[in-house]
Amino acid sequence: MRHQSASSLDHLSESELTAQLEPELLPKHVAVIMDGNGRWAELRGLPRIAGHREGINSVREMISQCLKLGIRILTIYAFSQENWNRPPQEINALMGLLEYYLSTERASLIEQGVRFQAIGRMELLPPSAQHWVRTTEQETAHLDKMVLNVALSYGGRAEIVDAVRELLVDVRNGSIEAEQIDQAFFQQYLYMYPLPDPDLLIRTSGETRISNFLLWQMAYTELCFTPTLWPDFRRREFLLALLEYQKRERRFGRVLSSMPS
Ligand code: IPE
Ligand code: IPE
Ligand code: MG
Repeated sequence: MRHQSASSLDHLSESELTAQLEPELLPKHVAVIMDGNGRWAELRGLPRIAGHREGINSVREMISQCLKLGIRILTIYAFSQENWNRPPQEINALMGLLEYYLSTERASLIEQGVRFQAIGRMELLPPSAQHWVRTTEQETAHLDKMVLNVALSYGGRAEIVDAVRELLVDVRNGSIEAEQIDQAFFQQYLYMYPLPDPDLLIRTSGETRISNFLLWQMAYTELCFTPTLWPDFRRREFLLALLEYQKRERRFGRVLSSMPS
């Protein structure tokens, strides 16, 4: 069953696809590079922001699908450090959309039991966007059905540099010794600690690169690239990605005979 190709799944309905999922093989943490909004809009003769706006509906569907399936951590790449190099008009529109999303969607996140966390260099966001990020974090901090991490003004290299800076402060003030620093210790300084690393990364829009996302955390993440543009990535596409993930054999460098059963 698990080894069906994607094309043999084409005729299956959403509920038939869901029935094929094996709960014990679901990822615990899914990360998504939500790409292709601009192209989605351009294909329709619309301004790029129309694609970003439509992409919010895909985010909503991902959250409800994760809740339904019991996937408890979802991390989405909403704005990269490099995206600050886009035209000011697009940046302003994206920040406006972020504020709109947080101010209008907060109630629904709370109702669904979703804890919202932002990761990235928040201090670079406009003050009003920072306000909504903080408010949403505070108002959802006690919720535990699922965690939604939103990467904003995020760069994977910047995250590692920020961790090193904090670590150096602790070494300098004598609260830790350099000899204490190993991989497990270092991880405590990363933005998402103590959440586990993503099991599955999905990137939409056909690009097959990481674009500076979660560089440390993705050491052994399974990568799934799909040509579907983000605003078209809905429940069915997500189910297909999960079925693809279930076919993967995660070896973590070992050979099969030495894998814990
Ligand atoms: C992804 O869509 C969203 C952000 C980077 C903010 P894009 O805006 O990159 O869309 P394309 O890749 O140009 O189609
Ligand atoms: C990655 O998409 C960042 C987000 C989805 C937020 P980009 O569209 O910015 O990435 P590149 O420029 O194609 O690598
Ligand atoms: Mg893009």
